[in-house]
Amino acid sequence: TLPTVINVTSVLPRPVAAAEPVARPRHYLMCRPEHFEVRYAINPWMRPGRPVDRERALAQWEALRQAYLDLGHRVDLIDPVPGLPDMVYAANGATVVDGTVLGARFRHPQRQAEAAAHRDWFAAAGFPVVEPEFVNEGEGDLLVVGDVVLAGHGFRTDPRAHAEAAAVFGREVVPLELVDPCFYHLDTAVAVLDDAHIAWLPAAFTPASQEVLRARFPEGIVAGPADAAVLGLNAVSDGRHVVLPAQATGLAAALRERGYTPVPVDLSELLNGGGGPKCCTLEVRS
Ligand code: ARG
Repeated sequence: TLPTVINVTSVLPRPVAAAEPVARPRHYLMCRPEHFEVRYAINPWMRPGRPVDRERALAQWEALRQAYLDLGHRVDLIDPVPGLPDMVYAANGATVVDGTVLGARFRHPQRQAEAAAHRDWFAAAGFPVVEPEFVNEGEGDLLVVGDVVLAGHGFRTDPRAHAEAAAVFGREVVPLELVDPCFYHLDTAVAVLDDAHIAWLPAAFTPASQEVLRARFPEGIVAGPADAAVLGLNAVSDGRHVVLPAQATGLAAALRERGYTPVPVDLSELLNGGGGPKCCTLEVRS
C-alpha cells in the first residue's frame, strides 16, 4: 500500500548549492580622519553647517581598520594632510592593478592636492606611478571585478579617463553612466563581492548602463532604497567577508543568503562627507 502522505521535499530536485565564497588576503591603504570636517559641499550628502564629531569619526574609522586586521588583511596608512578634510576617503587617491598605479586627478579644486600625496606615497613604496591626463577619482569610479574594470562617469571621472585606464592596465574597461547625484561615484552604486559578482542599485544608472550590468551580472544582488539611503553599497569584500555600513540590514541579509559573511561597521560620522567603508579603503593589488 502507498503511504497517504508523501514527503515532497525528498523527491524534489535539491537546489544546486552555490560555490562557497572564498576569501583572499588583501592589502589596503587608509588615511586617518585627523583633519576630517565638512566645510564645503561637493556632493548632496555634505552639509557644511552641520557640526562633525571628529573624535567619533576617528573611533569609527579605527573600528573599520581593526575589522580588516581581524580578517587577516594588511592595512598601510598614508599620512593625513592638514587642510585636506576629504583625504580620509582614500579610495579616490589612486587605482592599483597588478602593481601599476594610475594616479588620480580630482574634479574639484578642494581635493586636488590629495593626488600628489598618494602619488608620493606609492612612489616611496616602490610602485611605478602613471600620471593621468584626464580626471579620474581613483577607485571611486574604477572598480576591478575579476579581469575587467567597471568605470563610472557622469559626475566626477571624465569618460576619456576610461580609455586611459584600459591602456595603463591592459584590461577591458566597461563604461557606466551614473545619473543620480546622491550616487556620484561608482562605488556608491556598485559593490564588488568577488571576481564574478556584484551588488548594485539600478536606479543610479542610465537605462543603457543598467542593461550592460544586467547582461554581465545576471545574478547581481539588487539593493533596495533603504540600503541605498545609507550608502550600503559602499562595501569592501575579500571574496567572502563583506564589510558594509551597519545600517544596511537588508543588503546584509541578502548577502548572507548567498553565502557571504556580512561584517557590519558603523561609519555614520563619515557619511556626513558622503562616504562609507569602501570610500575609506584603497586596495593595493600587487
Ligand atoms: N566628500 C568626498 C567627495 O565628495 C567623499 C568621497 C567618497 N569617496 C568615494 N569613494 N565614494 O569627494
